[in-house]
Formats: sequence, structure tokens, C-alpha cells
Amino acid sequence: MTILVTGGAGFIGSNFVLDWLAGSDEAVVNLDALTYAGNVHNLDSLRDNPRHIFVHGDIGDAALVGRLLAEHQPRAVLHFAAESHVDRSIHGPGAFVQTNIVGTFQLLEAIRTYWGALEPEAKAAFRLLHVSTDEVFGSLAKDAPAFTETHPYEPNSPYSASKAASDHLVRAYHHTYGLPVLTTNCSNNYGPLHFPEKLIPLMIVNAQAGKPLPVYGDGQQIRDWLYVKDHCSAIRCVLAHGRLGETYNVGGWNEMPNLDIVHTVCDLLDELKPRADGSSYRAQIAFVTDRPGHDRRYAIDANKIHRELGWRPAETFASGIRKTVQWYLDNPQWVAQVQSGAYRDWVAKQYAAG
Ligand code: NAD
Ligand code: DAU
Repeated sequence: MTILVTGGAGFIGSNFVLDWLAGSDEAVVNLDALTYAGNVHNLDSLRDNPRHIFVHGDIGDAALVGRLLAEHQPRAVLHFAAESHVDRSIHGPGAFVQTNIVGTFQLLEAIRTYWGALEPEAKAAFRLLHVSTDEVFGSLAKDAPAFTETHPYEPNSPYSASKAASDHLVRAYHHTYGLPVLTTNCSNNYGPLHFPEKLIPLMIVNAQAGKPLPVYGDGQQIRDWLYVKDHCSAIRCVLAHGRLGETYNVGGWNEMPNLDIVHTVCDLLDELKPRADGSSYRAQIAFVTDRPGHDRRYAIDANKIHRELGWRPAETFASGIRKTVQWYLDNPQWVAQVQSGAYRDWVAKQYAAG
């Protein structure tokens, strides 16, 4: 048995592939375009593993995807590949439309052709799991109830709009063609192998480099945070037991303002790798210009996946963030290697105005 993973060299996808191969005998075909966010070194430990087949390619290349499906006959496709960074979608939305919408459409078409020709038993067993985000629901007022699966879609950034469009396409392929799909809408992930353009890894690497810790606006925007390995376990659970055509919200029951997140990272670094001058890393915090259209609050009601499928996160934020900070301290080569020229260009562009 084989599964096809898209975007398996990115942050969540590579954690998923590593966990999958550690816990299952099934092979993984890993299709990834290796954009700036894709990193083959995330998969170094699989170099001699015959059950990991890495393919450098684009989800929008229908001929390639069709060939991979025909050759490997996967029983499931797990679709992680996307442009994922909100700030980049503000600077350049085109790539988000291309990969998240057009690419997902091309992928759906290739899967529809493959699935349509399967024998009845394989056809009934096949699954497409689409990995999506809580950002499709838009922003919540301070005291509003958390997002449930029936919350209206109100995406506010080019990133979330493109993910919303991909969710709608996946839904339509189920309703129109009967394609056996499952969708997950997850909150903010954090953990090992997280590219340091996102809040938590950026704070960890900037703190150690003695650089400012840029907090957008007043730092009181709220996100729900989930340790990446818990997201991976939720995806495995939905793949195995989810009801066809359903969507499942995934979250950590852990809403926190950004400034509290940054304080927590600083306090852990103060404990694990104190600054030479003895003062706290909090001294490096710098309030900078806010993100345009910045969503104020996300919160996930993850009751459905718990009630129906029995899933709940294993990590608390306290345990997950400690593991995360420790992972970055233990892996300076990984950090150095991802901070390429292209990464430095992005940081210069995004934080130029201060
Ligand atoms: P990421 O940016 O770290 O990785 C994306 C991966 O997709 C990269 O390896 C990249 O090379 C690959 N990719 C991009 N365009 C491609 C294309 N056209 N064809 C093939 N591969 C392509 O993203 P991530 O944080 O790991 O997110 C993975 C998925 O989970 C995304 O769909 C994202 O929307 C969703 N998600 C992310 C979070 C989060 O907090 N990071 C939360 C909820 C949902
Ligand atoms: O909610 C799920 C989403 O979480 C995923 O769908 C996205 O792919 C993922 O990137 C993430 O989006 P966010 O925009 O919430 O993540 P980011 O790490 O970019 O920012 C988290 C919060 O921190 C957000 O309110 C913006 C703020 N921030 C971010 C950066 C990079 C700062 O204050 N300073 C920064 O330098």
C-alpha cells in the first residue's frame, strides 16, 4: 500500500512524512516543487529508506501527477502543498492563486481521472485528504464563540482567500463527482522544521542572533496554537476514520495573544541559553508596523473531531513550546542552512519599514 503526499518537504508535510514512515509499513510518494519553503534536508533521515519516494515536481503538472498515480496506485492522497505565508500573499498574491487554487484544481482533475478508473473495491477505499486552515473563517470578535465547521467562510487575506477557494473546489468534487474527500481546517502549528519566516521560529532565531523581535501592531492579536505532531496525528485520524465529504476543525484549545507567545519564547531562551549580558531576551522586542488587514482573533472549536473520532492533542502549549525551542537550540546547522540569500532578501523586504 502507498500514499501520495503533496508538499512533503515543507514544515507540516515533512513532519507528517517522518511520523508516517516511523509508524506504518506503507510507502510514501512525496511530490514537492521545492519552493523557498520546501527543504529536502528535512527528509535527510529518510535518504536510505526505500519506502520514501521523493519526486521533485509541481501539483499543477497534470501529466506528472497522472503518471505518479498510475505508477504507484496510492490508496490516498494527502494534499499539503501550498503557498502558506500570509505576509508573502500580501506582497505577491499571484503565486497563491496559482498553487493554492489552480494547482489544487489540476490535482483534483488528475485524481478524478485516476479514481474514476479504479476497480470498485479500490475506488470505495480511496481518500483525498485536503489540508486547510482556520483562516478561511476570517476574524473573530474578542468574546465570539470559536469557529465550528459550519462557521461562514470570510477569508480576509489573499492567502486565506486562495485556501478558501481550494476548500470549495474539493467540496464541489465530492458533491458533483462523488470523489471521496476529507478536509481539515487547522489552527497555527509550531514545532521542529518550521521555516523562520513564521512568528515562533523567527523569534527563536532572531533572539539568538541578537536581532529585534518584530511584533506587529500592539501584539494583542490572538491565535490558537497546536504542536505540529498533534496536527499530524489528527490528519492520520481523519484519514482512517473521517466521514466522507465532512470537514474537521483541528486545534490545540490554546488561544494566546502574540505578545504572550513572544514572552514565552524569550523566557525559555533566558532559561536554556541565557544572553551573555544577563538581561532578558524580552529587551529585543520591537513593535513594528502592523500587517495590512491583520485578522484580530482565530479560535478553533475542535469538539467535532474529538466527539466523532476521539482525537485530542497530546501536547500542552507549555510542553510543545519547550520541545520546540530546544529543537532549534539543538539544530543550528538546519537554521543556518535555511537562512539562504533568498531568506535574507525576504527579511530585508518585509521588515524594512520597521
Ligand atoms: P510550507 O510553506 O512550510 O510548505 C509548503 C510545501 O509545499 C513546500 O515544501 C513547498 O515546496 C511545497 N509546494 C509549494 N507549491 C507547490 C506546488 N505548486 N507543487 C508542489 N509542491 C509545492 O507550509 P506548511 O506550513 O507546511 O503548510 C502545509 C499545509 O498546511 C498548507 O496547505 C497550509 O495551508 C496548511 N496549514 C498550515 C498551518 C500552519 O500553521 N503552518 C496551519 C493550518 C493549515
Ligand atoms: O491559522 C493557521 C495559519 O497560521 C496557517 O494557515 C498559515 O499557513 C500559517 O502561516 C499561520 O498564519 P499566521 O499569519 O497566523 O502565522 P504567522 O506566524 O505569520 O503569524 C502569527 C501571528 O504573529 C500573526 O498574528 C502575525 C504575527 N506576527 C508574525 C510575524 C511573522 C508578528 O507579530 N511578527 C512577525 O514578524
